[in-house]
Amino acid sequence: MKVLIIGSGGREHAIAKKMLESPQVTEVFCAKGNPGMKKDGIQLVEIAEDNHEALISFAKEQMIAWTFVGPEIPLLNGIVDDFERAGLKIFGPNKAAAMIEGSKEFAKKIMVDNQIPTADYAAFTDYQKACEYVKEKGAPIVIKADGLAAGKGVVVAMNLDEALQALKEMMTDHRFGESGDKVVVEEFLAGEEFSLLAFVKNEEVYPMVIAQDHKRAYDGDKGPNTGGMGAYSPVPQISAEMVEMGIKEILEPAAKGMVKNQTPFTGILYAGLIATEAGPKVIEFNARFGDPETQVVLPRLTSDLAQVIDDLLNDRKPELSWSERATVGVVLAAEGYPGSYQKGMRVPHFNDQVTVYYAGVAETQGTIQAAGGRVLLVEAEAESIEAAQKIAYQALAEVDTSGYFYRQDIGDKSLK
Ligand code: AMP
Ligand code: GLY
Repeated sequence: MKVLIIGSGGREHAIAKKMLESPQVTEVFCAKGNPGMKKDGIQLVEIAEDNHEALISFAKEQMIAWTFVGPEIPLLNGIVDDFERAGLKIFGPNKAAAMIEGSKEFAKKIMVDNQIPTADYAAFTDYQKACEYVKEKGAPIVIKADGLAAGKGVVVAMNLDEALQALKEMMTDHRFGESGDKVVVEEFLAGEEFSLLAFVKNEEVYPMVIAQDHKRAYDGDKGPNTGGMGAYSPVPQISAEMVEMGIKEILEPAAKGMVKNQTPFTGILYAGLIATEAGPKVIEFNARFGDPETQVVLPRLTSDLAQVIDDLLNDRKPELSWSERATVGVVLAAEGYPGSYQKGMRVPHFNDQVTVYYAGVAETQGTIQAAGGRVLLVEAEAESIEAAQKIAYQALAEVDTSGYFYRQDIGDKSLK
C-alpha cells in the first residue's frame, strides 16, 4: 500500500522512515517533506499543507491507502474533516478534537471535568484582571498565550516583575498576535518533565515508551524556550509507577473525557507531564507526535507502525512492542535560533553509526543546505543512554559545525 504523510520536519522524517520499514508499504509520500528525506527513499510531494483540495486529489489519484498528519496546524485547519468528507482515510484528530492542543482553555476544561491532575489555572481576556490575579498568587508562576504560539507563548516567571512583563507583552503589546488576547495563568509545577504519548482511538489508549525533551536552547536548561533541542528514551529516573499513573489517571480519562464531550479523539495524544511529588500532572496536551520526541521514540518501536495505523483505522486492536535499547537525539540548530538565525550553511555528512533526521533544509543545485532553525537531528541507539550519547556526540564532533550550535547535555539528567 501507499501512504501519505503531511508535514516537513524531523518528526515527519522519522514517521515516514518507520512506515517504509513495513513490508506492506510500497511507497511513502510526504507533503511537502524536505529534500533530506529523499536519501531514505521518501518521495516529496510539492503541495502545501493547507491546500487540502490538492492533497485530496493527489491521494485519490495515487490511490493512497491512508494519510497520516504530522503537525498540529493542518489538524486545526480541519484536514481530517476535509479528507473524511471526501471519503478518504486519514489518521489524526478532527478539528474539534484537535482543540485539546489548539486551546489551552479547552484542554483545561477537559482536565477539570475528568479529574485529570494539572496545574491550577485561571484564564483572562482582561489585562488588569490578569495582573491582579498574578499579584495575588505571587511567583513563581506560569503565563501562557491561549492559542498556538509555536512553543514560544509560554513564560515561566520566577519573579513577579517577569510575570507582569509577560502579561504586558502578550496582552497589550500583542507579541504573539491574536493568541495573546486570551491568557492562561498557571500554577508553577516543580519536578522533572517527561512526554507520554499514545495511539488513541476514541476510548482506546495504546501508550508508547516515554521520552524527555530539552526545550531550552542552551546547556543546563538555560536560554529561551525552543521547539526542542534534543530528546532521549527511556527516562529511567521517571519510575514505572509514575508512567502507569500517567496512563491511568491522565491519558485514559482524557480519551474517555473527549468522547463524553462529544469531541472523540483519534490520533496521537501527547501528554507533556511534570513528575511532581503527588504524581504526574499535565502541563500541556498535544494532538500529534512530538518533535523531537518522535525521533527517539519511533526507533524503539519493534512492531510495524503502518500496521498499527491500519489497525486503528479499521477498528482492529493494534500490536505494539518496544526495544529495550536506549536512544538519544541531538538537534543541530542554526546559530541564532530561536531568534533570527543563519541560513545556507553546508549540511554535514555524518558517520553511519547514527541516523539523521532532517528538518530545516533546502536543496540548491543538488546540495543540501541549512534553511531553518532546527536543521537536523542526530540519533543514536545503544544498550544505555550513556553509550548512545557517546555515539551521537562522537558523530557531531567529527564534522564541521560552524554556523550551527547544539546542546552538549542531552540525556545528562538521566545520569545523575
Ligand atoms: P508548554 O509550551 O506548555 O509545553 O510550556 C513550555 C515549557 O514551559 C514546558 O516544557 C515546561 O518546561 C514549562 N512549563 C509550562 N507549564 C509549566 C508549569 N505549570 N510549571 C512549570 N513549568 C512549566
Ligand atoms: N517537543 C515538544 C512538542 O513537540 O511540542
